[in-house]
Amino acid sequence: MSQLLSPFLKARLLTPGPTPSPEWAKLAAASADIYHRSPAFVPYIKRCQMNLARYFGSKQHPIILTSSGTGAMEAAVLNFTDPEDEVLVLVAGKFGERWAQIADTFQCKVHSLKVEWGNTTDFEAILEQLKLKPGITKIFLQATETSTGVFHPIDQWLPKLRPLFTGLIIVDAISALLAHSIKMDEWGIDVCLAASQKGFGVAPGLAFVCVAEAAWNKMSKRGAYYFNLQKEREAQCQGTTSWTSATTLIKELDAVLEYLAEFQIEEITNHHRVLASGNSRSYKSNGP
Ligand SMILES: Cc1ncc(COP(=O)(O)O)c(C=O)c1O
Repeated sequence: MSQLLSPFLKARLLTPGPTPSPEWAKLAAASADIYHRSPAFVPYIKRCQMNLARYFGSKQHPIILTSSGTGAMEAAVLNFTDPEDEVLVLVAGKFGERWAQIADTFQCKVHSLKVEWGNTTDFEAILEQLKLKPGITKIFLQATETSTGVFHPIDQWLPKLRPLFTGLIIVDAISALLAHSIKMDEWGIDVCLAASQKGFGVAPGLAFVCVAEAAWNKMSKRGAYYFNLQKEREAQCQGTTSWTSATTLIKELDAVLEYLAEFQIEEITNHHRVLASGNSRSYKSNGP
């Protein structure tokens, strides 16, 4: 590219995340001279939590963490498993593998339901695992396995699974949220994760963990420090965070959420569907 042209061309992020952020959201981030322990910051946290909840399909306020999505995955394993817990992990790509690695790191007994990359599985295969290994008390899976682009049909699986399984169902919806309608309360998801840099179109660095009311009574006994979700929940109820808040990102998130609040969820998921189908058609027409 000529030196003359390069400053005039816009960079386009054609990735599943980070996705592009609107200029006005970046400006909101740039105006973030605010102290995270001051009353002026309280409305940002409260509004972000309130606005985030609807994307999870939950009455609970999601917890905002300063981390990438993997931090939220680690927080979920750390706070909701104990060593030697038997866990079932759906491994259909790179991020399923990540669940298995994190659970293994925290001394869980991992049972992987391995699926050929590019595919999903069927509900019966999950049930079969639960029958074969009755000690399983937690299930970890993705909503969308980003490494292959496959959306697992959790909207069909989970309402059937919920009455049969008394353990915790923990869903990584990091790349699914806003591209798909997720209904935590209706489907019986216990813990659901997302991150700023995917469907929300906010810069990377924030992750969200939504915990169903009943799941707070099923927390790990092992304890946690930075990713202590109970402590974080208490801080965020007061409109602050346990540790120094990522004030720039939270202001950016607030601007985006206030904008998106004007739209129905179906409008947002349709928007993503149109972008996905345009993208896929353009790749196909350009050949391999
Ligand atoms: C489904 C899924 N899970 C987890 C992650 C990891 O998130 P991060 O890269 O923000 O740590 C990603 C990121 O692409 C993802 O798409």
